[in-house]
Formats: sequence, structure tokens, C-alpha cells
Amino acid sequence: MQIALRCRSQSQIRPFMHILAISGSLRTGASNTAVLEAAALLAPPGVTITLYDGLGALPHFNPDLDSPDGGQLPEIVAGLRKQIGHADGVLISCPEYAHGIPGSFKNLLDWLVGSTEFPGKPVALLNTSPMSVHAPAQLAEVLATMNARLIPEASVTVQPRNRGSNAIDIAADPESSATLRNAIAAFARAAHE
Ligand SMILES: Cc1cc2nc3c(=O)[nH]c(=O)nc-3n(C[C@H](O)[C@H](O)[C@H](O)COP(=O)(O)O)c2cc1C
Repeated sequence: MQIALRCRSQSQIRPFMHILAISGSLRTGASNTAVLEAAALLAPPGVTITLYDGLGALPHFNPDLDSPDGGQLPEIVAGLRKQIGHADGVLISCPEYAHGIPGSFKNLLDWLVGSTEFPGKPVALLNTSPMSVHAPAQLAEVLATMNARLIPEASVTVQPRNRGSNAIDIAADPESSATLRNAIAAFARAAHE
């Protein structure tokens, strides 16, 4: 599913900004996906947030396919890189599995290590579970190693009130929506610096 919110008028946030949102969870009804969808619903005029929907279809990373001499980059990976290249920033929300980054999401990051599109990209990290401390720390380390430009002031915890909360529930919650709105505004400001 793709959610893209295009604004009708432009104010506050200076030029038009496009953010690619990537959820690290493949689970149906995932809180991490719902929080990113809520962010798309709450994006201010001048900002669009589009959810990446290819995580589960990416092949296992293989450096042989990512080599400048003769490598045959899979089409879906080229598509991911293109979407990263078109984005002004990347918003990530990722669960923690066994004190670490889920394998499927680390696989996505591995496909971006050798890309020209990712280094220098502004990145904000959302977290839907205050109990999860290991995965966010590992993500920060991996992303810094990949030369992402991490935006700490836009990296926030948004814990949905209930396990089944969807994007509309989260966007309607005063506390969660205020946190998300502030994070998006901080991200937009920092990304334009
Ligand atoms: C296999 C597995 C391992 C997990 N390991 C941890 C863990 O080490 N630490 C933690 O805080 N939560 C852990 N969790 C809980 C998830 O991080 C948590 O339920 C998260 O909100 C799931 O995100 P989602 O709703 O987007 O799928 C684990 C969940 C699963 C399924």
C-alpha cells in the first residue's frame, strides 16, 4: 500500500519536500507501519510522505549483484535506490527483534550501502516501543556508518495507545499527533539546512 499526501497550498515549510517512509515490520497491522502512515496523514503543507512497499520482496543482499564490473542489480533494488534518490529525506520506523534490527530491514540497508543515492541523506528514526533500546542504537550506528545524516531532533518515540491502533487512530490521538507533527517539522527544517 502506498500513502502519499500532496498538499494543496504551500506555507510555513519553505520549498516542497518529499520524504520516503520505510517500515521495518512486515507484520499485518504493524505499529511501525501505522505510525509512518499517520505521519503521512499529518504532513504539513509543502511536505509529502510516501510509504515504501517493497521490503518483503527484496532479494537477499549479495555483493556479486552489486558490483560495478558486471553486477546485475535486481530491478527492485534499482527501484528502491531510485526512490531514495528522489527523496529529500528518509523516515524509518523499525521494531526490535531479539535485541537487534530485523533481518529483513538490515537486508534493505545492506542494498543501500554501495549506492550513490543514500550517503548524506537526512534520516529520522521513529520508535513505537520505549522498551526497545537495542535496535535504535544499532540502527544509529549502522546508518552513521552508511554516511546517513541522522536528525536526532526528528527521531522520536510514538507509542500507539492500543496494539491494534491504525494510522487514523494515531493521527487522531492528541499526544501522538503533536509528537509526529513536531518531528516532521524538525525533519523538514534540518533537511533543508
Ligand atoms: C521475534 C520477535 C522478537 C522480539 N524481540 C524484542 C526485543 O528483543 N525487544 C523488544 O523490546 N521487543 C521485542 N519484540 C517486540 C516487538 O519489537 C514489538 O512487538 C514491536 O512493536 C513490533 O512492531 P510492529 O507492530 O511494527 O510489528 C519482539 C517481537 C518479535 C516478533
